[in-house]
Amino acid sequence: MRLTRRAFLHYSGIATMAAALRQSGSHRPAPKFRTQLNANSLAPFVDPLPIPEIAQASSYGPSPTEPAMKIPYYRIPMRQFESKVHRDLKPTRLWGYGACFPGPTFETRSGQGLLVEWANQLPKTHFLPIDHSIHGAERDKPEVRTVVHLHGGKVPPESDGYPENWFVPAKSATCHYPNHQDAAMLWYHDHALGINRLNVFAGLLGVFLVRDDLEDALELPRGKYEIPLVVCDRIFDLEGQLNYPVSGDPNKPWVSEVFGDAILVNGKLFPYLEVEPRKYRFRVLNGANGRFLHLSLPNGPVFNQIGTDQGLLPAPVRLDRVTLAPGERADLIVDFAALGGNRIVLKNDAFAVMQFRVAQRGPRDSSVLPASLRPVPKIAEAAAEKTRTLSLVEVDDCVQRPMTMLLNNAHWNMPVTERPLRDSTEIWELVNTTDDSHPIHLHLVRFQILDRRSFDIGAYWSTGGLKYKGAAISRDAGEAGWKDTVRADPGMVTRIIVRFEGFAGRYVWHCHILEHEDNEMMRPFEVLAR
Ligand code: C2O
Ligand code: CU
Repeated sequence: MRLTRRAFLHYSGIATMAAALRQSGSHRPAPKFRTQLNANSLAPFVDPLPIPEIAQASSYGPSPTEPAMKIPYYRIPMRQFESKVHRDLKPTRLWGYGACFPGPTFETRSGQGLLVEWANQLPKTHFLPIDHSIHGAERDKPEVRTVVHLHGGKVPPESDGYPENWFVPAKSATCHYPNHQDAAMLWYHDHALGINRLNVFAGLLGVFLVRDDLEDALELPRGKYEIPLVVCDRIFDLEGQLNYPVSGDPNKPWVSEVFGDAILVNGKLFPYLEVEPRKYRFRVLNGANGRFLHLSLPNGPVFNQIGTDQGLLPAPVRLDRVTLAPGERADLIVDFAALGGNRIVLKNDAFAVMQFRVAQRGPRDSSVLPASLRPVPKIAEAAAEKTRTLSLVEVDDCVQRPMTMLLNNAHWNMPVTERPLRDSTEIWELVNTTDDSHPIHLHLVRFQILDRRSFDIGAYWSTGGLKYKGAAISRDAGEAGWKDTVRADPGMVTRIIVRFEGFAGRYVWHCHILEHEDNEMMRPFEVLAR
């Protein structure tokens, strides 16, 4: 029996009833699937890696903050389309920005704002299983609703993609992205309340790059040597169609996690990429609903991680394995110089994801791997005006089936409890009482990870107090930069230090496992103007 469930059952006083039900042979209903494709039965490395197109502005519009100034205006439609994810599969129905999955990549510069009109041109009915028992997805709501969030963007609240600000087919919303932030790989994706997991699974995500002078001066690989790798897993049926799993209870089809055996890179299954024997810069995004990635190049070079969610690390970090929770990004330099003529496989755990085919020879490589990148001044703990202790909780039903996930035991529609002051610094202690790791993302801000420390879950439930079981563990080397998403590991208190800068107003923080986020593991927070 799982510890947190025991703790919860004990806490809620229904342990006896649950035990009785278990003994009477009550079982979790078997999940129902359409016949699932075994992705690993397909021939690997037969399709070239697609590179998403660069988004193009169609005109200029007045800046909302300085109306005399004109800034680039993009119009991006969301459409249903079909695409072949593998040579030997029939075309798959997908939803995508600009009718692509991933959507077009935005190339932007720090301090140069832009406008995007996101136009919903999707059909009126959803093709994935909506759970109408979930908050915000009731039967009186339109089936197809979208709202776009720029993940990692320092964006005014009205452009941030608040989950309730959804719009329906034939409607659009225009967002202002000021880009007053350091060079980083951001990404945009759907955020509609109660169906976010389905919209993203259908394909609504894309990359948004912010660049700046400091990054340019580093002479990192660029142009065709800088490649985004959007990694996400999916499940397909034998017809090559997306097969989002359901619980087996037709009134509550929600499932608590989705793990697919088909790991796509830039929308293709097992693609290959022809590379020259030189350095490449890979901008990797874990765009999965729930899968954590553990990437490695077993027969290849090491990774040099140069950046994380919110931009460059202070210095490169050499790694054999890169771990990315859903929503996290890694900026990696990989040097194929010594590997001319070889074929290198990128793996996730034991499974092949894609292949690099290294040419025998190529032009001279003038890019460099600098010894230092961007200073990341440590925020002193003493600078924090407030420390909040926030629990991550899984609530199970009487047959130990997860029913919902909560932040600090609160539901989405309860009053706002996290109300930091603008320009203040806070420490958030994320107390994970569950036995899953939850990637916690805060909108608007960037933060630093302080440490993680294991604690006694049972004692926490009975007394509400934190009894630590060991010393604090410092963050991973690859987490030493600015972050916007942090792994809160099970049985651990994960501490982050955050400065609430930029805008006042209402935002959200949530678990980036989209099944959790949709089922209550998301809360508003409100930045108060002083
Ligand atoms: Cu990547 Cu609130 O999301
Ligand atoms: Cu979660």
